[in-house]
Amino acid sequence: MALQYNLNPSQHFVSNEPKESPFKALEPDFEVRPDRIDVLLLGSGGRESAIAWKMRQSPRLGHLYIAPGNGGTGEYGENVAISPLDFEAISRFVKDKEIKMIVVGNEDPLVAGIYDYFMENGGENAPLVVGPSKAGAALEGSKDFAKQFMERHGIPTARYRSFTPETIEEGYKFLEQLNPPYVLKADGLAAGKGVLILNSLDEARKELAEMLGGKFGKSSATVVIEEFLDGIECSVFVLTDGNGGYRILPVAKDYKRIGEGDTGLNTGGMGAVSPVVFADKEFMQKVIDRIVVPTVEGLKKDNIVYRGFIFLGLIKVGDEPMVIEYNVRMGDPETEVVMLRIVGDLVDLMEAAASGDLGDRCLDHDPRYATTVMAVSGGYPGSYPKGKVMTGLDEARENAILFHAGTSLDADGKLVTSGGRVIACSALGDNIDEALAASYAAVGKIDFDGKYFRRDIGQDLKKLM
Ligand code: AMP
Ligand code: GLY
Repeated sequence: MALQYNLNPSQHFVSNEPKESPFKALEPDFEVRPDRIDVLLLGSGGRESAIAWKMRQSPRLGHLYIAPGNGGTGEYGENVAISPLDFEAISRFVKDKEIKMIVVGNEDPLVAGIYDYFMENGGENAPLVVGPSKAGAALEGSKDFAKQFMERHGIPTARYRSFTPETIEEGYKFLEQLNPPYVLKADGLAAGKGVLILNSLDEARKELAEMLGGKFGKSSATVVIEEFLDGIECSVFVLTDGNGGYRILPVAKDYKRIGEGDTGLNTGGMGAVSPVVFADKEFMQKVIDRIVVPTVEGLKKDNIVYRGFIFLGLIKVGDEPMVIEYNVRMGDPETEVVMLRIVGDLVDLMEAAASGDLGDRCLDHDPRYATTVMAVSGGYPGSYPKGKVMTGLDEARENAILFHAGTSLDADGKLVTSGGRVIACSALGDNIDEALAASYAAVGKIDFDGKYFRRDIGQDLKKLM
């Protein structure tokens, strides 16, 4: 039986039909291979769209289900209406469909222990889970844990101390020992809002009191205060098998602020570029020797099961890499450029990592540039309207790959906006200008009421070239 490309036509919008484009997803392999596996991908953002797109190119992929997916993921597989946090519903679905591998896109299910759930409850036919155990996910779920881990394994990071309501007075004293700006971080997950950078000691004291007083609920019951690091940031992604084996993915830089020139409020990310000019060979060797190897080995030494992606949020201070944060998943929108530059079979690589042995599998990097520009809803990252009809996607596809993020299909099957970050326009080029021109041509053709995007993605990197 031939593999059906679109499993559920009703979840499919005509504009999502791949058009002739230099970037269109490869057609799936119609030959029935005995080693194909059915996969469930959890998440609904641009990151999951990009992972699904890359998996769809693998001859090892059988059926792909995306829970819950978005208005565009129906192009790569079948959307299923299950919450990534509903482990029991996921478990029933996995058994019913005989799914072999679960790929966890976002951090919440990992921090909530989805890996452990399936190891404990999955029985003999437990699916592979790409992602860390709950203990490993604490690298993102608790900043204090991550800091202790780095200290224990000699991994370079900002000097810090952690405080609770009982030790607030010591917190004030610690602030006095630091120079401004002051960096305060809620220990737990706070939807990307838990880091505050403050210019005055007064503000820092006030915020410390508010955070410990419950500003971010339980997440800020412990607050990490750390030294401010001045430098330029990049995101390094590592796929590890938990047994010392790892592969480094293409390096990317994202653009977090809403406004051009990196101004205004923090967002989930407004665009990304890969490669990153300052992450050269020499820098990456330092990253590997001082950060990647000690992290992978440190997890082993601490008996922390970790088979999945590690996201190193790095900052280059002078010529030296330091860790700003760990995340236990891929980045968004970094994934929307990284997937374009991975040369290798992602399904095969993830299966090997989740099985505990990457062996000699290849993960190469396409030498070209990849860029992505995110179109967002007017008002984001504050409140914004939803349900705006989207047009121009067919035209935009002539230039770029469109990774849907906050989109959905309305009752009439029309594509509408349903989130702050709506769609990522990703493109490859022989140089950064070519890639950017294609991403911008695409974002210019997509239309919906209130559309906004940053016009300066990649410009800072161009100045360094
Ligand atoms: P995080 O949620 O830990 O990634 O922090 C959000 C952002 O705050 C980072 O991407 C950095 O831009 C900034 N940041 C965090 N920690 C520091 C630090 N120690 N020094 C300077 N900037 C920081
Ligand atoms: N782009 C940053 C993140 O995914 O956390």
